[in-house]
Amino acid sequence: MDLKFGDIQETALIPLAIKASETARTNARIKDLKAKEIIETLGVDVSKFDPFLSHEGVVARTIMFRDELKRLIDMYQDALCVNLGCGFDDKFSQVDNGKITWFDVDLPDQIAVRRKVYEDRERCTMLSGSALEGEWTKSLPKNDMTIVVMEGVLEYFSKDMVKTCLNMLCDSFSHGYLLAELHSPFLEKNGKHHDAVKNTNATFGWGTKSGKEYLELEPRLTFVSERSYNEEMRKYSIRGKLFAIVGRNINNRLAVFKW
Ligand SMILES: C[S@@+](CC[C@H](N)C(=O)[O-])C[C@H]1O[C@@H](n2cnc3c(N)ncnc32)[C@H](O)[C@@H]1O
Repeated sequence: MDLKFGDIQETALIPLAIKASETARTNARIKDLKAKEIIETLGVDVSKFDPFLSHEGVVARTIMFRDELKRLIDMYQDALCVNLGCGFDDKFSQVDNGKITWFDVDLPDQIAVRRKVYEDRERCTMLSGSALEGEWTKSLPKNDMTIVVMEGVLEYFSKDMVKTCLNMLCDSFSHGYLLAELHSPFLEKNGKHHDAVKNTNATFGWGTKSGKEYLELEPRLTFVSERSYNEEMRKYSIRGKLFAIVGRNINNRLAVFKW
């Protein structure tokens, strides 16, 4: 299939490649059979997108986002959930409780490719939309609680873009949680050495030392929690343990905000 990806859109192939290769391992820590199917259907070469640190990071974040999301869905069992910048991710299958309403949202060209490999399901709908403007949110059902997931998306935004996105979310949904992947100023400066992203044309945007830096951009937000991927990565290998020491402050984090 002849596919053209935008610079940030192409980065969606990284978690896809990693989820497929992890699934094929004996003792796989995450199972994502859909990822393998997508790679085969699209016929894309993802061999350069699966180096060690990115692999461990994506496995860690997949587990951490899933568990945090399940915890929130237990609290708000019929929440409206939005996977914003969904790429090829199939988080709905990992967390569905039979009651949530889920939207997979991404830029129009990415949703067009996603539609080649996914169909809308009951309570799980694909939608074109941008994290930088809220027009698409008007077509969503109203709900008292919205849970927004942004995994591997804000990393590519400038500070101004992050502000626009946070303001848009708080304007569009009356109450919500945001589960966001954040990265450090170190990665912002040294992104060209990132073991997987260096193989794309994407560059990292505004990095933070703490998720609390988001609060000055959007006063309606409150900070709930923040955990480094090191917490999960250090469990599995010596290299993961070492990175958790050497890269104590530079690994990506899962931050949770509420409004
Ligand atoms: C690294 S991929 C992550 C995909 C997915 N969240 C995952 O973890 O597998 C980054 C995604 O962000 C999307 N993206 C970039 N800019 C966006 C924007 N302004 N609005 C919505 N999605 C955007 C890209 O199209 C791409 O699918």
